[in-house]
Amino acid sequence: MLIKQICILGGSGFVGSAIVAKLATAGYSVKVLTRRKDHAKNLLLLPQVQVLECNVLDKQALTSALAGVDAVINLLGILHQSRRTSFNDMHHALPAQLAGICKDLHIKRLVHMSSLRADKNAPSQYLRSKAAGEAALLAYSAELNITIFRPSIIFGRGDSFINLFASLVKVMPLVMLAKPNAKFQPIWVEDVASCFVACLNNRASYGQTYELAGPKVYRFRQLVQAVMDTLQIQRPIIGLTDGLSYAQAWMMELLPIQLMSRDNILSMQVDSVSEQTLPALLNITPSSLETIIPQYLLDETSRGAYDRFRRAAAR
Ligand SMILES: NC(=O)c1ccc[n+]([C@@H]2O[C@H](COP(=O)([O-])OP(=O)(O)OC[C@H]3O[C@@H](n4cnc5c(N)ncnc54)[C@H](OP(=O)(O)O)[C@@H]3O)[C@@H](O)[C@H]2O)c1
Repeated sequence: MLIKQICILGGSGFVGSAIVAKLATAGYSVKVLTRRKDHAKNLLLLPQVQVLECNVLDKQALTSALAGVDAVINLLGILHQSRRTSFNDMHHALPAQLAGICKDLHIKRLVHMSSLRADKNAPSQYLRSKAAGEAALLAYSAELNITIFRPSIIFGRGDSFINLFASLVKVMPLVMLAKPNAKFQPIWVEDVASCFVACLNNRASYGQTYELAGPKVYRFRQLVQAVMDTLQIQRPIIGLTDGLSYAQAWMMELLPIQLMSRDNILSMQVDSVSEQTLPALLNITPSSLETIIPQYLLDETSRGAYDRFRRAAAR
């Protein structure tokens, strides 16, 4: 069956907005579910995009919202747990429920966002809950055509990671960097979005799990250095020991805005790098960080910074 109408959970977010824009450009009809319509106001003007308020954790509400679509993309994810929402709620229980609803509604196609190094024995709750979500989905492999993506960190206009360090080096005299030797293989958000669009109607991607990583591996310290080089600001980077990294994250958990948690530090115990090369069917040659980040770091507006802080504060 040719897929035309897609429902996307998490479509208002950083990655979701890029995917929705590409789907709309490719002529798909897209339904974006959000807790609050104003979270998705950047999408309202796109052609063939409908934004619908929905409590995705409510089975009945989610079932009504999904009725009639041909495919579902699930991007829901959190980096920090709150009293209201746990990693398990968002990364495990929700995908499990979503797959059950898709089966009941005969929606055969489901594309899901996990994370590189998700594993049931991973050191962080984030990675363990992502692995539990993958396993819950794969239990439906006989009934649903599922594709899972596992990216390393994702950069691009509006990201939280690169922009956070750009904001810090502008105001701080030095950078006290947790886990300075942790490894990442960052991938551009537009490349990630292209992969989602490329796989939707491609049967060869059914039942597959793809790791998504950019062309180069960086240590955390090198990433911060790349940000400073782009901004032409130089600050000393003081690498923290594991113990001090954990203590710093603990203190940051007390801030009103969530920047870093102890669980994030535990995630960095495993290198977020991939040994796979991207398969030809995804049809991308990943762009390098050095060519992309100047396009948005040197073009930052106060509005962009405001939107990121709003997201960090979960408002
Ligand atoms: N960004 C990265 O570097 C990265 C790396 C690896 C994996 N990932 C995964 O990629 C996915 C998308 O990431 P992103 O960076 O685009 O995230 P994001 O910008 O924070 O967006 C996440 C989306 O989740 C929804 N959401 C957040 N908390 C929710 C809650 N408590 N209840 C219901 N919905 C909630 C938000 O929708 P509304 O506010 O509209 O309701 C938002 O659209 C996630 O699964 C993430 O784990 C991201």
